[in-house]
Amino acid sequence: MCGIVAVVGSREAAPLLLEGLRHLEYRGYDSAGLATVHSLVSEDQGQLTCLRAKGKLINLAAMIDQNGAPGNLGIGHTRWATHGKPEECNAHPHRDSSGCIAVVQNGIIENHRALRETLEAAGVEFLSETDTEVIPHLIAKELHLLKLEGLPVCEAMLLTAVQRVLPKLKGAYALAVLWVETPSALVVARRQAPLLIGLGEGEFLCASDTPALASFARTILPMEDGEVALLTPLGIELYNQKGDRQKRSPSLLSGVNHVADKRNFRHFMLKEIHEQPETAELWVTRHLPEGLPADAPVALPFDDSFYFGIERIEILACGTSRHAALVGAYLLEQFAGIPTAVFYASEFRYAAPPLAPNTLTIGLTQSGETADTLAALAMDAERRENHGDSAFAPRQLGVTNRPESSLARQVPNILDIGAGLEVGVAATKTFLGQLFAFYGLSLNFAARRGTRSKEEIFSITQELRSVPNQLRSLVKMHDKLSEELAHKFADTKDVIFLGRGINYPIALEGALKLKEISYIHAEGYPAGEMKHGPIALLDPKVPVVSIAMPGVVFEKVLSNAQEAKARDAQLIGVAPEGPDTNLFDYLLPVPKVSEWISPLFSVVPMQLLSYHIAAHRGLDVDQPRNLAKSVTVE
Ligand code: M6R
Repeated sequence: MCGIVAVVGSREAAPLLLEGLRHLEYRGYDSAGLATVHSLVSEDQGQLTCLRAKGKLINLAAMIDQNGAPGNLGIGHTRWATHGKPEECNAHPHRDSSGCIAVVQNGIIENHRALRETLEAAGVEFLSETDTEVIPHLIAKELHLLKLEGLPVCEAMLLTAVQRVLPKLKGAYALAVLWVETPSALVVARRQAPLLIGLGEGEFLCASDTPALASFARTILPMEDGEVALLTPLGIELYNQKGDRQKRSPSLLSGVNHVADKRNFRHFMLKEIHEQPETAELWVTRHLPEGLPADAPVALPFDDSFYFGIERIEILACGTSRHAALVGAYLLEQFAGIPTAVFYASEFRYAAPPLAPNTLTIGLTQSGETADTLAALAMDAERRENHGDSAFAPRQLGVTNRPESSLARQVPNILDIGAGLEVGVAATKTFLGQLFAFYGLSLNFAARRGTRSKEEIFSITQELRSVPNQLRSLVKMHDKLSEELAHKFADTKDVIFLGRGINYPIALEGALKLKEISYIHAEGYPAGEMKHGPIALLDPKVPVVSIAMPGVVFEKVLSNAQEAKARDAQLIGVAPEGPDTNLFDYLLPVPKVSEWISPLFSVVPMQLLSYHIAAHRGLDVDQPRNLAKSVTVE
């Protein structure tokens, strides 16, 4: 995981790198570093400055202020630790033994141990525990050989050395390399990890993701798998894996919202929770305009062929997106009547179910960059293409909050959830946006397939139209209620979340939110499953949050809550006010809506309760320990 950025041009590289890295911190914030090369007029080569700091980017910025990092050529990195602890010695860039070559990398070099052993046997001394460090040493070796072959030092020499090293690396990488002996050359390469070249004014850049380029480049050239490029102030040379020169036109960089403003909120997460009524409003305005035909009650950017003949849906996702997918599967199956299965993308990659015909595969990822989801989609497309029978051909949809992400470059159909930039690592408003996407798909499928009456479909669309206003008052009320409750539960060690049916995934999401930002152990269970084991965990110190929304399982959930109460658990209910819900010790009231749309409301108290508990504990809510907003390694 990690984010990389690189630049070569006519202005100072360090400020550009820092600004670029700021937009990549969502990919990791364990450490950050940069290397710049300053051309020395008196000599042929440059002078390399390498600065690295443990922790967030702010530490690196302070280091640059103190020491300076001159030069127009530079590479930068923000790290999420995979190999080696988040210490300065493991921070990127990594250098060869002479300190003349510097490399930043995103991805994992799977054969790094074998490569390291060979290099160590040849006398190379390693200074870090990372997989990356083998790369500068291997490049140094190739450069040495090229010099022995009599090649004069030139930019092409660095390119050739990198091209010789890349086939030796197994695994995924996006990397950027610089060398003091070629102070105007940058070599970049990618395999199974994203990398985009940005064309600026008088400079060329390269980064893991578009927001890092948005301030400097008007056009971008996304690199394809296996490509390597030489960037100099004069231009770009792009080569494929075979070494053939590639010519492609860059595309306009548009639609990147990179302005992160906390407004007056204490944390981005709180701001984003409060933005949910707006997310809902935008969705309703865009997708539920009046006067749509009965067979397409929701305006989605797909024609008839998209819906035609689908017999099964498979959804691939991770984390919170997977929880939204579970709600989606409930709607697609129970409302629209399409058999739907949800998979952890990381499991699907290596244990996919046997191929089924006429299947729509949905990749659900708010960032559009999650490595497992992208790889699972690619694997599924490949096995379907290889099948030969057209009934098994890939039909893929990506649902994302980032329509300019890697996902959008990979799958043919994209549904933009349009929730706006989400900065907090804990997904909140994008979860809501994902739920809306599934309401849209399920209503359209149900209408086309005739699995629901016009009246039922009309009634749900009307209910959806009133969600923004209802959410407005709900968010305000729960912000206050949850803050009060948080004081009581801030020192709790374990919490159980219960839900059933369409609200079971909300119990999972409640538990995940609490775990990731407050570091309190929490588990989500289907309420009826408690008595099969987990009920043994209950005692007066383990609060149970029970989601009881009126509908087919309402009474069942209340009975399950009673069972917990009988074991002295403290009960927090997420339910409408009324005589039925008097059993709860604390009630987080939600409006009495149809069960179909209830997750849009029941999730709000989950988010706010977790937020306030974490904030009360004084934790780094927006950038919790060990996490990253986007998980770009397997
Ligand atoms: O960008 P994605 O939706 O693919 O991200 C998936 C998960 O990494 C993400 O939902 C993660 O679980 C969040 N930290 C949840 O708040």
